[in-house]
Amino acid sequence: MSKPRIFVPNRVNEEVIHYLQQYGDVDYRDQEEKMAEEEFLVGLRNASALLCYSRQKINASILEQAPLLKVVSNIAVGYDNLDLGEMTKRGVLATNTPGILTETTADLTFSILMAAARRVAEADYYVKSGQWKEWFPSLMLGKDVFGATIGIIGMGRIGEAVARRAKGFDMNILYYNRSRKTDAEAKLGATFVSLEELLQRSDYVVVLTPLTAETQKFIGVKELALMKKDAILVNASRGATVDETALIHALQEKRIAGAALDVYEKEPVDPENPLLKMANVVTLPHIGSATRETRAKMAMKAARNAIAALQGEIPENLLNKEVL
Ligand code: NAP
Ligand code: GLV
Repeated sequence: MSKPRIFVPNRVNEEVIHYLQQYGDVDYRDQEEKMAEEEFLVGLRNASALLCYSRQKINASILEQAPLLKVVSNIAVGYDNLDLGEMTKRGVLATNTPGILTETTADLTFSILMAAARRVAEADYYVKSGQWKEWFPSLMLGKDVFGATIGIIGMGRIGEAVARRAKGFDMNILYYNRSRKTDAEAKLGATFVSLEELLQRSDYVVVLTPLTAETQKFIGVKELALMKKDAILVNASRGATVDETALIHALQEKRIAGAALDVYEKEPVDPENPLLKMANVVTLPHIGSATRETRAKMAMKAARNAIAALQGEIPENLLNKEVL
């Protein structure tokens, strides 16, 4: 019997490829850049499994060209790039990589909160560009983090890990979530509040919900208007959970003090995007889980999910259980 074809169009750790080769013929392209669409579709045509990053959209038109496909294994926890309905209809399993990237992403989320609060990127540029001619008392004045109020929207794995970091900074922790998290309340002293109250009271509003039909532009004109004038918005979820145009206006009109962004409505972000011109906005290139250790673990988890599916087992991180 011929071995299943496993398509890996982008670079992953070598151990992952060795692992996959024990179970199938691996069609591997050891390159970082996204594959051109036509080439991708050629690879997909004979593939039983695909390992991909979240920048790869999997929708009906792609699936139509993948007659042998049994599993799409996302190397990411977020899966808004996958059309689960279409995959289920065609009997294709979808998996993701939750958990192992939680702490790494929480580190990054908290670090951009700190960077925006204490103007770290702006001050670094000020020194490196030779603007620092004299020290004076109001130089790069920022905003305290310790003891301030953080409002976490989406108290899931990463939200809770951010709350743990906030507790270490003696912050007052508010959260809003679809369901109540009594564990986090007991362990971290977090207080469940309405979205409106969270926005009105928080010094730092941190968005960590997945991107779904419900959370699309979750933070828009109305929500931004409820925030304090000296508050900072942090988004490490997906760009589209925040209405970017509304955010730009709120910042331009100084209705909020700043923002820290790892994600954007369109990625890579347009170099002309006004957010990139604002000194009070920290802008990172979607690197929440980007450490060597975590990226390696994510790819291996994705590989194990794919192999489980190919072997007729239920993958640990199956997203569309209805497919069974
Ligand atoms: P998670 O454990 O599933 O947490 C998501 C939380 O959001 C859950 O508590 C969920 O509530 C809540 N939620 C979902 N829809 C909601 C709604 N409409 N209203 C209020 N709360 C809602 O996921 P995670 O592992 O923490 O990851 C969260 C997201 O972070 C991912 O989906 C991904 O988009 C993003 N992410 C970004 C990076 C990056 O590089 N920047 C890295 C990793 C992840 P329930 O508990 O009630 O379901
Ligand atoms: C990264 O953005 C992820 O969802 O894992």
